[in-house]
Amino acid sequence: MAPTTSETTISNPTSTSSTLQDITNHTLDPERGAPGSKKELINLLRGWPSPSLLSPSILQSATKALLSDPSLFVPALQYGPDPGYQPLREELAAWLGQQYSTSTKSDEICITGGASQGLACVLASFTDPSYTQTVWASAPCYYLACPIFEDAGFGPGRIKAVPEDQQGGIDIDLLESMLQKHEAQHQHQPSHRNVPERKNADPYRKHYRHVVYLVSTCSNPSGTTMSLEKRKRLVETARKHDVLVVSDDVYDFLQWPISSDASAPPSSELGALLPRLSDIDLSLPPSEAATSSGKWFGNAISNGSFSKLLGPGLRTGWVHGTPDFIMGLSQTGATRSGGAGSQFAAALLAEVMKAGELGRHLQEAVRPGLQRRHRLITETIKHELGELGVTVAAQDGGRFGGYFVWLTLPGGLDGKAVAQKARQDEELIVAEGEMFEVRGDEAGARFKGNIRLSFSWEEEHKMEEGVKRLGRVLRGLLGEKC
Ligand SMILES: Cc1ncc(COP(=O)(O)O)c(C=O)c1O
Repeated sequence: MAPTTSETTISNPTSTSSTLQDITNHTLDPERGAPGSKKELINLLRGWPSPSLLSPSILQSATKALLSDPSLFVPALQYGPDPGYQPLREELAAWLGQQYSTSTKSDEICITGGASQGLACVLASFTDPSYTQTVWASAPCYYLACPIFEDAGFGPGRIKAVPEDQQGGIDIDLLESMLQKHEAQHQHQPSHRNVPERKNADPYRKHYRHVVYLVSTCSNPSGTTMSLEKRKRLVETARKHDVLVVSDDVYDFLQWPISSDASAPPSSELGALLPRLSDIDLSLPPSEAATSSGKWFGNAISNGSFSKLLGPGLRTGWVHGTPDFIMGLSQTGATRSGGAGSQFAAALLAEVMKAGELGRHLQEAVRPGLQRRHRLITETIKHELGELGVTVAAQDGGRFGGYFVWLTLPGGLDGKAVAQKARQDEELIVAEGEMFEVRGDEAGARFKGNIRLSFSWEEEHKMEEGVKRLGRVLRGLLGEKC
């Protein structure tokens, strides 16, 4: 059946006729505005790296090294092992261990086709909608995760929003009480207990009773990072309730110090990273609920990606978890037929890492570029929108990172109305807060008074101009309300 209009039409920011796919897939030419418009379109929705943050020369050298040596290019062009191209697993283990100051072993890493595909495989292998109760998603939520949960059988009623709290990151007290309430309500219902599972988990996998989904560092869209104390508490909660915590850790290496002194010289040092939730889980003795048939699957995994580090077109990432979880994940049906996704890209990335180019690229190009852009957008927002009462989330912890700033609108303005007017009057695309509500949980947290701006995509002068245009839109709407 053809999808209905409401499923495909973007209910937001852009125009009444353009679809989300138009924008994200580039079929709506971003360089051109509406017919007849004299203005250049500015897209502050798009979470892509600016072309200036890509480095083709690194990939050129790696391709040359890879394709001139048969011992490298033959395996690169063949089907590969289920858990992924072994040299990349080893390079990643060493590099991640250094970054997180922990010991990471190659059997704790499974190569994926990026974080999105990794999440789909995790759900395919470790959940069964006839047994797994609910996906608890931190809200506001990365909006493209919701369709992945729906595809896995967790649509309306099976996915619940758990709001972030004032400290940043998912509200753990609330999550704990929601889990307890759910279990109390459902433990005696035969329709939720003792139902034959439809999927076969044995011998390499297990099905979890719950899933928690979040972005624990530099969250998309709110930019918040969860403290160490909260990370430990989340792992504890997960262990109590047979939860698999999936953290999309795609922004961990894109952080920089921030200062209230705008004249302070920028420093692109990454600084000490907080441990991944998977590191905390692995550092503890195996939990009973996550042990099955003598295997320890663990209660938390880290879903990593090269998309924001070297380019999303590479479609390559990794999952970090216990060795038994990694083995189980590698047994996902579609992976067994040919081996882990992105074999060629994985071989290329192994060459990039062997040459030390990943760390160099992040240090010399990506972090300084994003840091400069973040400073520029923050100052422009303060200058252009501050007096209108717009506020920016998560800017006071001494560090910031990722691709986005999350704004709260003044005077009860509706983000959807702002996004529509921005597109119609100013050729400006912004993401309204409603996009980040957890789809399928109609009673969950609402974000009508927010918008998200990306500082990763547009060139710097266009970003500045975009914020000025947004100021005009807000002044217009606030004027209409008076
Ligand atoms: C939180 C989050 N997870 C996953 C992704 C997608 O990652 P990948 O390109 O590796 O599929 C993004 C991209 O914007 C993201 O922000």
